Amino acid sequence: MHFYIITLFPEYFESPLNCGLMGKALQNNILEISRINPRDFTLDRHRSVDDRPYGGGPGMVMLLEPIIKSLKSLPQDCTKIMLTPKGRLMDQEMAAGLSREKNIALVCGRYEGIDARLEDLVDLELVSIGDYVLNGGETAALCIMEAVSRFLPGFLGKQESVGEESFSSGLLEYPHYTRPEAYAGFRVPEVLLSGDHGRIARWRRQKALENTLKLRPEILESQHLTPEDLDFTRNLQRLRPGRNLFISLLHHPVKNKMGQDSTTSLTNLDIHDIARVCATYGLGGYFLCTPLLDQQNLARRLLEHWTQGAGARANPDRARALSTVRVVHCLQDAVQYVHNLTGECPCIVATSASGPGDISCRQVLKHLRTKPVLMVLGTGYGLSRSVLQDADHMLGPVRFLEGYNHLSVRSAASIIVDRILGDYA
Ligand code: ADE
Repeated sequence: MHFYIITLFPEYFESPLNCGLMGKALQNNILEISRINPRDFTLDRHRSVDDRPYGGGPGMVMLLEPIIKSLKSLPQDCTKIMLTPKGRLMDQEMAAGLSREKNIALVCGRYEGIDARLEDLVDLELVSIGDYVLNGGETAALCIMEAVSRFLPGFLGKQESVGEESFSSGLLEYPHYTRPEAYAGFRVPEVLLSGDHGRIARWRRQKALENTLKLRPEILESQHLTPEDLDFTRNLQRLRPGRNLFISLLHHPVKNKMGQDSTTSLTNLDIHDIARVCATYGLGGYFLCTPLLDQQNLARRLLEHWTQGAGARANPDRARALSTVRVVHCLQDAVQYVHNLTGECPCIVATSASGPGDISCRQVLKHLRTKPVLMVLGTGYGLSRSVLQDADHMLGPVRFLEGYNHLSVRSAASIIVDRILGDYA
């Protein structure tokens, strides 16, 4: 494998490419690395590689010509990568794929970046190493070279080690220990001293599952888990931020067709389906808010049938879902209920099919880690202005760029709850 680094700072790579496994791989010809400085392809007296941006603004932009000439000096079959924060996020799968290439060019931008026409003129793969901005592509190029090289035969001492590491198995790695057996009162787990390789392998798999569930739950769902893995993982204690999330379905005050405050009737499907979402995602509770006594009585009769009556006997799963539902008179009663239950006043997040939001689902999840959140869903033509004004935050429409935004409230509830909690297994 040959890496061609196109960089204005070839000296940047001196030390990292001279030590450790990268240094050894270069010595043993497992790897070849060439550093190409676009400055060497300039013709003017000052050897210029950058210029001021058209349209004004701070910083300098890298010139096209020296980079194009640098790329033209490379072998024809070179896979060309440009390091940029706007690129596809690098991961282990990408590293494995790149390790099958023969020649890879890594174009490192500096300053404000490279003249945008480079992407029109050259077939480049844009790659980022994370959602943050570095001084240039050089650090990112180092990361890529190291992650890719680890897949090359002979790079690692023992070829199997790359398959056992974090991400190679799809899971985070199990913990490693070495001598001494006890340190500051902490002992190496007994199983690792047992010499029983079957037990050790099982323990390591379980620790990998445990670490992944605790630290990166979102990667678990895409893994092939055996029935034994699933059994083990289901019984692990896990963070359940959904316990802090409550839903309130408001039937008053909501807007009617003319935009006036009004009251709607209960909808059986909304009661059932949102309750099923609450049970599936482990939410703290679901409030049906209506000030109408006959509607409250109707809801209670319905709930009694499904949680205690014939419905519950016929369908215990439905009984479990509907047991999360409480009938309350108004939103304030729901707030009070959450306060009594959790000891804290919930953060009220209103939802709307129109208008701008001021909080994202990711930010709601952040709130849930420390305090309860009461998400308010409207019926009819949406929550009335007074509810929106009193809420702490507003969640924007599910599809904020589309002109058509007419999901049923139960569909919107499912999508929003999944967007907030979906990464949690
Ligand atoms: N250049 C500057 N920041 C970068 C990043 N995060 N990934 C790749 N190249 C970059």
